[in-house]
Amino acid sequence: MQLGPSAPTIVVGLLAAVAAACSDGGGSPESASQAFCRLPEAEVEARVDDLLSQMTLEEKVEQMAGTGALGSGGWLAPANERLGIPGFAMIDGPRGVSVLGGHATAFPVAMARGASWDPELERRVGEAIGAEARAKGASVLLAPTINLLRHPGWGRAQETYGEDTHHLSRFAVAFVEGAQQHVIASAKHFALNSIEDTRFTVNVTTDERTLREIYLPQFRAAVQEAHVGSVMSAYNRVDGAYCAENSHLLRDILKGDWGFRGFVESDWILGTRSTVASARSGLDIEMPSPSFYGAKLIAAVEAGEVPMDDIDEAARRVLRTKLCFELDSDPPVPDPAVVESADHTALALDAEREAIVLLANRNAALPLERSALGSLVVIGPLADSANIGDTGSSNVNPSYVVTPLAGIASHAGSAQVVFLEDDGSSAASQNALAAADAAVVVVGLTAADEGEGGVSGGDRHTLALSAEQEALIQRVADSSRRTIVVLEGGSAITVEPWIDRVDAVLMAWYPGQEGGNAIAEVLFGDVNPSGKLPFTVPHDESDLPEFVSDPARLDVTYGFLHGYRWIDAQGIEPRFPFGFGLSYTSFTVANLTLDGRTLAPGGVLGASVDVTNTGARSGDEIVQLYVGFEGSRVERPRRQLAAFARVHLEAGETRRVPLEIAARDIAYYDVAQAEFVLEPITYVVQVGESSRDLPLEARFRVR
Ligand code: BGC
Repeated sequence: MQLGPSAPTIVVGLLAAVAAACSDGGGSPESASQAFCRLPEAEVEARVDDLLSQMTLEEKVEQMAGTGALGSGGWLAPANERLGIPGFAMIDGPRGVSVLGGHATAFPVAMARGASWDPELERRVGEAIGAEARAKGASVLLAPTINLLRHPGWGRAQETYGEDTHHLSRFAVAFVEGAQQHVIASAKHFALNSIEDTRFTVNVTTDERTLREIYLPQFRAAVQEAHVGSVMSAYNRVDGAYCAENSHLLRDILKGDWGFRGFVESDWILGTRSTVASARSGLDIEMPSPSFYGAKLIAAVEAGEVPMDDIDEAARRVLRTKLCFELDSDPPVPDPAVVESADHTALALDAEREAIVLLANRNAALPLERSALGSLVVIGPLADSANIGDTGSSNVNPSYVVTPLAGIASHAGSAQVVFLEDDGSSAASQNALAAADAAVVVVGLTAADEGEGGVSGGDRHTLALSAEQEALIQRVADSSRRTIVVLEGGSAITVEPWIDRVDAVLMAWYPGQEGGNAIAEVLFGDVNPSGKLPFTVPHDESDLPEFVSDPARLDVTYGFLHGYRWIDAQGIEPRFPFGFGLSYTSFTVANLTLDGRTLAPGGVLGASVDVTNTGARSGDEIVQLYVGFEGSRVERPRRQLAAFARVHLEAGETRRVPLEIAARDIAYYDVAQAEFVLEPITYVVQVGESSRDLPLEARFRVR
């Protein structure tokens, strides 16, 4: 904790002008509502008034729960034919339209897309998934998953974008804006849902500052910047109350402070736990069917336990969202031919090209030179496996998957590709390994190792590979001239026992249906690797805060620090820092300038930096800007990400890259004032290529 002289504080932005209830607003409910609606808001509200005046209690309550049925467009929530009110069809999910809707484009998982650090690409991915969902008859897309990756052991790590609040917020906004060109997106799971094995019962406690600064900003951005139409409450409890009956989360923060205009639906089945508490706390729709709402809710209203105002408010939100997103007017629907269209599978390929992270490359072991390659061994349990991620709710069923082996075989040119199906120990395999110029070992995690609790593998209980896979790598390294490890998985994998024995390592994630092609393009140098880790890879998992997923420990506390902020504070060296990734070319950054020396509350401060490609081939660099705090009176991380940019540079090219520091991102949440506060201290700007490679520094102040 850094304690400085007590200094007057300045409230960020227009907050002071907003009503007390908007203490975490960052923008007024008014401005949010105008952009939330595709139609003039006053017109919609008048129509909603009219509809509500004609609806019985039963009809209003009917709008507040799913039907339990699954249509071709997903889980249904009721229409009201008498009044011409359309229903919803809700479908997952974060890496493409759920298997429940038939075939769809399988994109690399969200964590892979996070590693691209390319929100513009993410906007296109969101748009593509939204178009496919809509073409299949869905109106609500149950994505994005934007829970912060507090620890890589979380089974659903792959569904979110990373460990950093700022980075995650940019992806949340991009996905929602893209998807909402076609459907209503649903930002999930609100909130603090980052443990699977105890997801239905765990009680996560955090202090108010940590909640507002670390775990919620991406939801706020989805609501206030991207105007997301719906938010899904999480299964877990927060500070004792289940999220679907947590009025602090739903009423005070989401609907109050942030001015959210859409509706909240519960997570499925065990996501709703009560009738009265849920209705009173702001749960608008129970999904997928009325276990606690329906008849029980009608009875609770009649008994005076739930005021009619709560019912009217929930029904209003549901109707408003339906009308604002024009579900009643039969707008043109994308042609079903968009599903797995050439454009969408090409986008899935592009996303994986940008996502692959080169973690190690000794003596320029990569890229492989086709002409200098006699034979190339491909080995490992995932080499010829369609390993595209969790088989829980985010599961996608594409009509084909290019495996790493298939991709390598089709990109190898004249090199002979030898696929070894055993563990490398047979005499024939040993001979093949010794004879080959290089061996590619494809290992990592599958849905059996990590995924949705109770459906797929749940949480991980080690961050290491299995003993068999580690032994396989060692065996290949013993026999092969050049050992290249391709890792698949949804988050950090520790590499200590074997990293020094191998020549190169790629993190390829769950790479989507075109993954094998992108992996091969990177291996052969057709594509320069440019992804960077959206999380920290520790030497050992004991370097990170404890991850508790034990059913015997249902009370879990999330502290202020995690990920790079944690290891920075503890003085721990990571194996691979947040923001790290190598390239086949090299870059430098120089000449950092700030547009001014001060930052005004609510404002942004421009920064610029020269980025030069100093190598011999073209490539993309992801330049990162972090801010540190001098003399803060509250606990702060050593530094935190405040801006980033992906830039393409030809060999030898220099570009001046603009970056922006938003006051909002470096303010702290003052619990006593219930406001975000921009402290009048000195801020240290650091710019570079990862969170641990920051050669440039500049300072500014807030007065
Ligand atoms: C998951 C949600 C998903 C829902 C509907 C739940 O089990 O937690 O993420 O949207 O199912 O499939």
